[in-house]
Amino acid sequence: MSIWTDRHVTVVVSGGIASYKALTVMRLLMKQGAQVRVVLTANAAKFVTPLTFQTLTQQPVVTDEFTLTDPTHVVHVALADWTDVMVMVPATANLIAKVAQGLADDVATTTILATTAPKYVIPAMNSHMWANPATQRNLAQLTADGIHLMTPATGLLAEGYAGQGRLPEPTEIVAWLTNQVIDAATDLPLHGKKVLVTAGGTREMLDPVRYISNRSSGKMGYAMAQVAREMGATVTLVSAQTALPRPQGIQYIQVTSAAEMLKQVEQAFAQTDILVMAAAVSDYRPAQVVTQKIKKQAAEPGLTLHLTETTDILKKLATQKQNQYVIGFAAETQNLLANAEKKLAAKKLDLLVANDVSKPGVGFNGDTNQVTLLSPYATPVTTAVLPKLAIAKAVFKTALEHGIASKN
Ligand SMILES: Cc1cc2nc3c(=O)[nH]c(=O)nc-3n(C[C@H](O)[C@H](O)[C@H](O)COP(=O)(O)O)c2cc1C
Repeated sequence: MSIWTDRHVTVVVSGGIASYKALTVMRLLMKQGAQVRVVLTANAAKFVTPLTFQTLTQQPVVTDEFTLTDPTHVVHVALADWTDVMVMVPATANLIAKVAQGLADDVATTTILATTAPKYVIPAMNSHMWANPATQRNLAQLTADGIHLMTPATGLLAEGYAGQGRLPEPTEIVAWLTNQVIDAATDLPLHGKKVLVTAGGTREMLDPVRYISNRSSGKMGYAMAQVAREMGATVTLVSAQTALPRPQGIQYIQVTSAAEMLKQVEQAFAQTDILVMAAAVSDYRPAQVVTQKIKKQAAEPGLTLHLTETTDILKKLATQKQNQYVIGFAAETQNLLANAEKKLAAKKLDLLVANDVSKPGVGFNGDTNQVTLLSPYATPVTTAVLPKLAIAKAVFKTALEHGIASKN
């Protein structure tokens, strides 16, 4: 399931040099579960053929509304009513001008005018066309009419010189659209909620080139951040080092040490509705950070490291907790439930996600996990071994059952 699953998306393609990129945009949306119908302007059909769109969507492509087709409905009205999301990609200066004026002189503009669905415009044109006051006036009109605009990229244009007006890459377009659609979906369970997630294993520097850390991959925390976003939340991810790509649509803060993570989390905590502490925070750090690389001592074999405790982030936040819903994670290798119960109470958690990392398929690094959910509000529940995204969904589902929506 994604935000696009079964959403009806109408893609209007107008006649620009980037028209072919609409094929990739459409394919990416379909891959995420959207049902896509395509309208081509007459000029777009000179750049890309209706046949390509028809073959890829396995649906009739609308290019003309005055040909005799199905007598039971008017093409543009049926399509306009079917549409949940209207995307114009690429939008030519001409199409933008027509939409700004409310013109309806072909099937594309008529369908755009006839739909009540939210509209998203992704312009692409020569930089002088983009900068032209007439185009800027039309764009301002679209914004005033509640139509959402993606800013074109700056770079080398088809004309051979650089400027603003390039169509952004299809993956960027789909990421932007996804964000827009999530923010507009007021029925999502975490809509309006601010979720703060920590992830990854912190690093405690020993000298300029060495550190103490742990095997956390960050995958569970990133899955929590992704699912929170897909459920409609505004998400901040405070991430220690990981090898994972930055999730889309999320405010991302990179940290290294436990102390840096504490600082960031404390700063954001007062404005947070749900805190998810999925990071593997070092319990100890070197008592002293040496400024030069520690040399091998030939005369004295062996090296003793002196460690000191880091600040326990969850314990510290427990004293600042107002009505935030706090989710903690516990990785244990023995006495899972007993240790988890203790942590739940000591850190005033609303939910503790406990896993036995000594079991195969559970915990660090892998793509699956099995967890026991403990809370002061219900008896513990143990999940099956599931992909981390499914675990993240189960965690938020449990939190929602505890009534987080009514806490703030
Ligand atoms: C080779 C070529 C490339 C073009 N590229 C663009 C473009 O990227 N953006 C744009 O706004 N117009 C572009 N145009 C101009 C449009 O095709 C023209 O304004 C046309 O009337 C647009 O029709 P439509 O908006 O109904 O598709 C291009 C024209 C040609 C011949």
